[in-house]
Amino acid sequence: MTFTPATWPRKLRSQEWYGGTSRDHIYHRGWLKNQGYPHDLFDGRPVIGILNTWGELTPCNGHLRELAEKVKAGIWEAGGFPLEVPVFSASENTFRPTAMMYRNLAAMAVEEVMRAQPIDGAVLLVGCDKTTPSLMMGAASTDLPSIVVTGGPMLNGWFRGERVGSGTALWQMSEDIKAGKMSKEDFLEAEQAMSRSSGTCNTMGTASTMASMAEALGMALSGNAAIPAVDARRRVMAQLSGRRIVQMVKDDLKPSDVLTRAAFENAIRTNGAIGGSTNAVVHILALAGRVGVNLTLDDWDRLGRDVPTVVNLMPSGKYLMEEFFYAGGLPVVLKRLGEGGMLNKDALTVSGSGIWDEVRDAVNWNEAVILPVEKALAASGGIAVLRGNLAPGGAVLKPSAASPELMFHRGRAVVFEDIDDYKAKIADEDLDIDETSVMVLKNCGPKGYPGMSEVGNMGLPPKVLRKGITDMVRISDARMSGTAYGTVVLHTSPEAAVGGPLAIVRDGDMIELDVAARRLHLDVPEEEIARRLAEWTAPEAPVGGYAQLFHTHVEGADTGADFDFLRGCRGAAVPKDSH
Ligand code: FES
Repeated sequence: MTFTPATWPRKLRSQEWYGGTSRDHIYHRGWLKNQGYPHDLFDGRPVIGILNTWGELTPCNGHLRELAEKVKAGIWEAGGFPLEVPVFSASENTFRPTAMMYRNLAAMAVEEVMRAQPIDGAVLLVGCDKTTPSLMMGAASTDLPSIVVTGGPMLNGWFRGERVGSGTALWQMSEDIKAGKMSKEDFLEAEQAMSRSSGTCNTMGTASTMASMAEALGMALSGNAAIPAVDARRRVMAQLSGRRIVQMVKDDLKPSDVLTRAAFENAIRTNGAIGGSTNAVVHILALAGRVGVNLTLDDWDRLGRDVPTVVNLMPSGKYLMEEFFYAGGLPVVLKRLGEGGMLNKDALTVSGSGIWDEVRDAVNWNEAVILPVEKALAASGGIAVLRGNLAPGGAVLKPSAASPELMFHRGRAVVFEDIDDYKAKIADEDLDIDETSVMVLKNCGPKGYPGMSEVGNMGLPPKVLRKGITDMVRISDARMSGTAYGTVVLHTSPEAAVGGPLAIVRDGDMIELDVAARRLHLDVPEEEIARRLAEWTAPEAPVGGYAQLFHTHVEGADTGADFDFLRGCRGAAVPKDSH
């Protein structure tokens, strides 16, 4: 239905800027008219901000300008007034020291853009890993009606008859080079096959996971997550979302109506079923903190424990997002969860309906891609949350990406004090390490790196790789790329840089990992641990600029690594005008 001002139900916040005849109203309208907008567009219809994370240095979102045009078409059709607004775009593959350091900055910028500008509702145009959570976090803190449209994954990469999964193939090939199984020339040739179309990583990495999280949370229209970036249906989805946001503004359907505890539970279970990225843990916890839902690490363990991983995508499985889409995409997975009693069916979505209404008719078109439960990649596909004297605040491990034979392991620690120490030592043939060792990496958490880099899946020593070994137990306070794999304990909390027990592990200490018991134990007497902790001194904190702000205010990974002062919803009351 198209709305006209006569049928519009209430005065919208954009009218504070545009709806009057005062000097200030003329100032706001008049300047915008330099782009050729007729006067009747300011008559009370909703102004929809298309918050676009397009950027040429965010290649995964490089096609979002084109997609924005389809969003605009939908908004015009439904009687809204679309205005495209560029927002901070934290690109995963270029930002240093890590895009994660800028997620909160992006979220803060988006929140302020929404509140400070004449926006009645927003389309969040996102894709690359951090862009999706940061925009959802910012929108949640304003609680203005918002809908997520992701850019969609790249088409499959192919190299010499094999699928090339974004990231996953890169990690694998670089290990093959170290093991002498692949030549540098072949590696360079494979580079051409890695990104053959627009779009985000084509594995079930963090971008695909967060697109799936947005859909499972109900923040995107059903089916959004898996449509390839270049498929015409991606553009249809953009247009339909543009239409939909206008109705959402009319209905005042806000993030707080959608982002309920029920929605977060659905997202956690979905993550288990898709074999999603461990990065979802920090992003979903941070998002819950923005809307006041008391979600914890223990919810991740409890809710995901009985969920089998049925989506056969890299890095846990074989296929890529293109095949996931052809098989029916996320609606099939949500339907499966619903049939298994693991979906809160009434959870409201941006469509205005309960999630079950959106997925109940989904059909699985390929059981090799979305597996029957009896063929699941992992019976317990959720995120295992480990605790013990090495991780009193918790640590996470992704069972579907780990080696079953290492799920219980006791080994001697080989310690790297930070990532530079790791790089300096790892290729040393004299390093006292073998496949039974436990690799420990410190000072890579939110404050330590700073930003909590994706270095937790540190590569194995070449001398171990040459034996044909492909996995070892690795422990750190870092994150891991969603495209990566291995028996990797991540997000160890409290992190080393704030004096967590990880900080005092020494070479030769025995460490025991018992995933079934959810235990991570440093086999050192408690008195010795206390003595070492008393001797510990904190690393230097960054001074000046954003790095200082980040270091001062970032919270631990166990609660989502948000800034302490950004938790919660601050609403979208119209600020005073100083003109
Ligand atoms: Fe952007 Fe993977 S690096 S989606």
